[in-house]
Amino acid sequence: MAVLTDESLRTIRSLAERYPDQRSALLPALHIAQNQLGWVSGQAMEEVGSVLGIEPDQVQEVATFYSMYYTEPVGTYVLEVCKTAPCSFMGADEIIDYVSQKLGIEPGETTPDGMFTLLRVECLAACHRAPMMQVNHRYYQDLTPAKVDALIEAARQQQLRAEHLPGFNIRRTWSETVQADVT
Ligand code: FES
Repeated sequence: MAVLTDESLRTIRSLAERYPDQRSALLPALHIAQNQLGWVSGQAMEEVGSVLGIEPDQVQEVATFYSMYYTEPVGTYVLEVCKTAPCSFMGADEIIDYVSQKLGIEPGETTPDGMFTLLRVECLAACHRAPMMQVNHRYYQDLTPAKVDALIEAARQQQLRAEHLPGFNIRRTWSETVQADVT
């Protein structure tokens, strides 16, 4: 059974028309699939590949290469803490441990209520504001345990938006921009 909606498929086709070679639309097409489903399932990869004329195994190679695509189901909020050297020097390991203890999960796991997934990821290009994490494609920087507490509480209250978290510097990420441009 198909998993992508007509709207998602229409958006992917419209996006593909912008490229001389429609296969070049693969990355944003995967974002569209993930934005709809919350992750990119094998069936979603097949459907994206079918629209763009790409073999499923080639779609899978790309989807599994980039950490920004989730090829397993994730929680409502995905806490992706940067573990690369500059963030590590500034306390990322302690932040990861703190989040891990607070939520009772190890990196790579999801809380039993399905609300949070904790991931350790490579540099997200915000090294000047280390340590940092990305939560559902928004950046939260200069992290401290107190800020982590505020983030998690805001998420539990379904209010995880910049305006509710004074002191945070948040910026839109590329995937949000793409989604805004094609819809
Ligand atoms: S090292 Fe963490 S954002 Fe670059």
